[in-house]
Amino acid sequence: MPKSIILGCMVSLTIVGCYPKASQVIRSLPVESKEQIKAQYSQDQIAKGETLFINNCAKCHKLKQPDSKTPEQWNKTVKRMIPKAKLTDEEGKLVRAYLIAHAKDA
Ligand code: HEC
Repeated sequence: MPKSIILGCMVSLTIVGCYPKASQVIRSLPVESKEQIKAQYSQDQIAKGETLFINNCAKCHKLKQPDSKTPEQWNKTVKRMIPKAKLTDEEGKLVRAYLIAHAKDA
């Protein structure tokens, strides 16, 4: 096999392997309503989520407004964006809680 093919395979494997995917924990979070979120997370945790959101979610694009989406829409988007922002599961959960708690009503 020519060297270039071997190299090409190695490069594509690395890219596939490093492609950011939400962890199992984040992906398995159910779609929850504002009320469900507020019942599970303290004010303090939601405030931490806001800080994490401000510090990590404006690196690639402008900060998106929490009330630009419904809880259901945030649920989908945030699962894609958490790995992009390289947040841990715990941080990701807090950002998600903040966004859903401030989402627009469906
Ligand atoms: C590494 C760069 C990067 C980071 C960090 C990032 N995003 Fe994004 N985001 C993108 C790109 C690229 C798009 C457009 C393509 C797409 O939708 O996947 C996007 C699109 C979006 C959209 C619009 C798309 C939609 O589905 O409505 C929202 C909302 C969003 N990001 C929220 C966030 C939040 C919240 C965070 C923090 C957890 C975040 N982003 C962090 C790169 C990033």
